[in-house]
Amino acid sequence: MSTLPRAWINEIGKYEGQEVELRGWLDNRRSSGKLHFLQVRDGTGVIQCVVFKGDVSPEVFAETNHLPQESAIKVRGTVKKDDRAPIGYELGVKDVEVVQKAAPDYPLGHKEHGVAFLMDQRHLWLRSNRQRVVMAVRHTIVKAIRDYFDGKGFRLVDSPIFTPNACEGTSTLFEVPYFDMGKAYLTQSGQLYAEASAMAYGKVYTFGPTFRAEKSKTRRHLTEFWMVEPEVAFMDLEEDMDLAEDFICFIAQRVLENHAKELQTILERDIAKLETIKKPFPRITYDEAVKVLQAAGNPIQWGDDFGGDEETILASAYDRPVMVHRYPAELKAFYFKHDPQNPRVALGMDVLAPEGYGEIIGGGQREESYETLVERIKAHKLPLEAFDWYLDLRKWGSVPHAGFGLGLERTVAWMCGLHHVRETIPYPRMMERLTP
Ligand code: 4AD
Ligand code: MG
Repeated sequence: MSTLPRAWINEIGKYEGQEVELRGWLDNRRSSGKLHFLQVRDGTGVIQCVVFKGDVSPEVFAETNHLPQESAIKVRGTVKKDDRAPIGYELGVKDVEVVQKAAPDYPLGHKEHGVAFLMDQRHLWLRSNRQRVVMAVRHTIVKAIRDYFDGKGFRLVDSPIFTPNACEGTSTLFEVPYFDMGKAYLTQSGQLYAEASAMAYGKVYTFGPTFRAEKSKTRRHLTEFWMVEPEVAFMDLEEDMDLAEDFICFIAQRVLENHAKELQTILERDIAKLETIKKPFPRITYDEAVKVLQAAGNPIQWGDDFGGDEETILASAYDRPVMVHRYPAELKAFYFKHDPQNPRVALGMDVLAPEGYGEIIGGGQREESYETLVERIKAHKLPLEAFDWYLDLRKWGSVPHAGFGLGLERTVAWMCGLHHVRETIPYPRMMERLTP
């Protein structure tokens, strides 16, 4: 047993000049005669540990020359400032204790690997420096989401994952057998419950995993993803857009405050692209968006939905997200309120991120009339019985209300500058991926 303080690599500067114990894994090593250089990783960072023949026992010197990658070790030594080191410090080793000598054939050695292979090895790939930073940014964004709404007095109200209702259309539902009741669905969105909660507590948010049987194999689609959904009573579409832009600026600011250096050095992210995310965001109607697209040579017609290509063209005109509002009503889910000025369009909005990241937020104002909502549910061929409880909200104290959903993984991909959402969640689920 060592009595030395256990130091974590991301806080190693606190121990300059002192002797500490590091506990971690051997990430890489090289030798030059009397010196072995061990790259040691503990989950918070990587530090170079220098083993000098004269400083350690002959056994330790011999063993550290042959330890396989990923061996679990405790390293004791003195923290030394070193301006050439990426983290500014290195460890002068006095002793190494091997906790587990790794098998010799670590699949993710230090060479280039294809994405399919890396995805199969996701449980090991997470150990890489790159994935460490992505997961750290994800964590920061989750905390920023909570801090933002908590700081504004929103009540966190969790929505169920098993539901009897389709919220976002019936084509992407996952069905699960459910005892004597036949079947349930995995939730596509907590929105309907967030609406009920907003009528109970005024301003609320729900935040959790959501599920869609997406048959599209794109860089933006997962079958299991996390969504945060605020919902506010007595709020209209304009105020909903105000909330969305303020919220996104808060997240971007937090990411920059906490990760500017790692984003640049490890993910090669151009952070100047994040520094421009400031209010106000441009707001254009769907009608205007169609004209912009047609002027750019896109074959879109009024009434068509936007796909990734259209979103990219629209967003490329701006250095910050663009908000597109008032889509054709028939493109949108049953719960949208239609614009009293023009009933062909729904009071909905999408926030499109720059740089081709596409839609990160979808939301809008909800239909508050009981009669209209009943008609819509029927028109969408949804089973009225399943919405009994939802319709109650329109019978007792119905008010204009609005909210939105922000997709966590797309936001992480955008902040980190990643090509595909598969790297933004620890264990991604996609149409063709259920392991590890
Ligand atoms: O636009 P969507 O479908 O909106 C809703 O679900 C509303 N009920 C939200 C609300 O108003 N409370 O989805 C919202 C966001 C999208 O903008 C996108 O960021 C993300 O969820 N999203 C996905 N992310 C990854 N993979 C998928 N398959 C996604 N589908 C939606
Ligand atoms: Mg959407």
